[in-house]
Amino acid sequence: TSGARADHEAVRPAVIAHRGASALAPENTLAAVDRAHRLGFTWVENDVQRTRDGVLVVLHDAGLARTTDVERVFPGRSPWRVRDFTAAEIARLDAGGWFGRRFAGARVPTLRQYLARVERNRQSLLLEIKNPRLYPGIGGQVLDELDRAGWLDRRHRSRLVIQSFDAPTIRTVHRLRPAVRTAVLGAPTVAELREYARFADQINPRYTKLTVGYVAAAQRLRGPHGRPVEVCAWTVDRPVDALIAAGHGVDCLITNRPDVVRRALSVF
Ligand code: G3P
Ligand code: CA
Repeated sequence: TSGARADHEAVRPAVIAHRGASALAPENTLAAVDRAHRLGFTWVENDVQRTRDGVLVVLHDAGLARTTDVERVFPGRSPWRVRDFTAAEIARLDAGGWFGRRFAGARVPTLRQYLARVERNRQSLLLEIKNPRLYPGIGGQVLDELDRAGWLDRRHRSRLVIQSFDAPTIRTVHRLRPAVRTAVLGAPTVAELREYARFADQINPRYTKLTVGYVAAAQRLRGPHGRPVEVCAWTVDRPVDALIAAGHGVDCLITNRPDVVRRALSVF
């Protein structure tokens, strides 16, 4: 196809491909990024953690067992935590075969490899720092990696949001690089929202937590860059839930099924 449409800008709510188009390709792999791209989705979400030797990799769980063949390759290494394996060891794992035979051989990407692919596709990135308590200093390390790859340049800024469930980590990211857009995951109280709006441009709750009043309360606040705080709901895969969340006035929907959600929104 002719490449990505700018869905984040053109369609409200914007549609973000969760872990890539992860209902259609193995989550957090380059294949999932490419699947989202081929469907015309600009924004992808991912999860970042750190190996034993300090390399940032893209994986959701703290352990490798669900989404790779680590139990077969390293049978004696239970409980197969990301932080107990080197980057070279993780590079040997198959991160696609569990999802489907045609994806066998897909790898756990390093953040560096992942950024290069997102850049090549001219996509945008909602980057989640996963389990930051397990990886001291990971916020600064993620920023350094982004910087090295050119992602903190002025022209890239509209194409990046860094999020975490851990509000202190996001506060630190904002302090280190105030120009970068950020998000706190979860559904803070309205009092907490006021505090978070000092350092977070978005509040991203589970869709089941939303009401019209809550979304409006967040959007009435100004974020650290002077614009209204945005609300992005996850993980919205059913058409009915996409329509309800859109009715609540969210700015974006994070979904494993961007194709399904886009179709649902087109009749909204
Ligand atoms: O982007 C929101 C969503 O990814 C948060 O939950 O567990 O899928 O990382 P989780
Ligand atoms: Ca995530």
